[in-house]
Amino acid sequence: AENMLWGGRFTGGLDPLMLKYNASIQYDKLLYKEDILGSIAFARANAKSGIISNDEFAEIERGLREVQKEWEANTFVIMPNDEDIHTANERRLGEIIGKDIAGKLHTGRSRNEQVVCDMRMWLRDQIRVIESQLVAFIEVIAARAEAEVGILMPGYTHLQRAMVVMWSQHLLSFGFNFASDLERLREVSKRVNRSPLGAGALAGNGFNIDRDMMAEELGFNGLLWNSMNAVADRDFVTEFLQWGSMFMQHISRWAEDLILYSSTEFGFVSIADAYSTGSSLMPQKKNPDGLELLRGKAGRAFGHMAGLMMTQKGLPSTYNKDLQESWEPMLDHVKTISDSVQIANGVLATLTVRQDRMRAALDPFMLSTDLADYLVRKGVPFRETHHISGRCVAKSEELGVPMNELSLEQLQAIDGRFMEDVLNTFNYETSVEMRSAKGGTSRARVLEQVKVLKAMLA
Ligand code: ARG
Repeated sequence: AENMLWGGRFTGGLDPLMLKYNASIQYDKLLYKEDILGSIAFARANAKSGIISNDEFAEIERGLREVQKEWEANTFVIMPNDEDIHTANERRLGEIIGKDIAGKLHTGRSRNEQVVCDMRMWLRDQIRVIESQLVAFIEVIAARAEAEVGILMPGYTHLQRAMVVMWSQHLLSFGFNFASDLERLREVSKRVNRSPLGAGALAGNGFNIDRDMMAEELGFNGLLWNSMNAVADRDFVTEFLQWGSMFMQHISRWAEDLILYSSTEFGFVSIADAYSTGSSLMPQKKNPDGLELLRGKAGRAFGHMAGLMMTQKGLPSTYNKDLQESWEPMLDHVKTISDSVQIANGVLATLTVRQDRMRAALDPFMLSTDLADYLVRKGVPFRETHHISGRCVAKSEELGVPMNELSLEQLQAIDGRFMEDVLNTFNYETSVEMRSAKGGTSRARVLEQVKVLKAMLA
């Protein structure tokens, strides 16, 4: 271990498995660029405060750009003692510009601040990508809801046919979930994008480094104001995992509806071939695998979130190696979420809506609330009208006649206040148009929702 970066006080060697067990280079190498940019900013700030010379800084920067080029050209060779991206880059810098100057890069710096600087910069940038992917998905929802306004379908509670709604209303119901996710993501991003640089190992920087200058160079929005907090904190990862868990919960629920609606029994939609797969045994099968994976991956997202919270619970202040365990959930979560939004977008953009099947699934019983409302408009108390309409349902079941085919006489036998105009009640379009208060499923209110939703994207 004496030839490790931190090996000065060591004489014994490291167990070979321990060497691997301790290393994070297999995954943190992905952030080589953030690590290099952070190092350049740090060296520049050290030059400003005079702890290294301007020439030394220039040499360090030149060397680090060389290292960056090697990563980009895939020629960087990872050595057995390269524990993580920070030690690997510094080791290589020493080989390129010589240890005398390279050895000054880490003056006043700790990997404890460096690691979270890298992670925060990377996650901030990934959040921007996910944000734009999410906006694109919501745009597809809004566009379909607008273009397909007027298509009617059963709306369900308890998975029982409840009332007639527009297909657009169903789409928008999820659109607003995702728009809230977008708002929340923008909020999370503010706390991710703060600079830990200058926090040192835990107690702060001893060379009066200009923290603001480094933060600005690296595109951070502000500082983490307490050095111990800066190196101990992985809330920025946890919060992102929590955000993504809720997002995946919405995605999963949305996927479940479409899986159900694409079954032969419902047949409301059909999923494009591009997002389906076949069966190796049953030739007729077309399975909604894209949607099933969206549903399934929600479990993976929740697992990472719960795992990282458990890792942190009960940790003593400040940096402990346990925190290295925040890397993999972060990396995996970003991939899961980013892939999932794009798949969801693709599924929706290519989905075929089968209006006729939706229409055929409407049932006159879904108008029984409208029947009760009819009498309410004649001044009858709702509790009474609910009961009367219920008796009409019972009558129709008893006679085996759809409710809209009961004669005026049969209706009047149940309640004398039914007039000829009651027959207008048995109309699905009317039922939908009656829900004309804000947020309802009438055409005008659906189109209004589309506008509201689009405005949330800005
Ligand atoms: N690879 C480490 C991590 O991800 C970097 C920080 C190491 N710091 C230390 N004191 N050992 O957490």
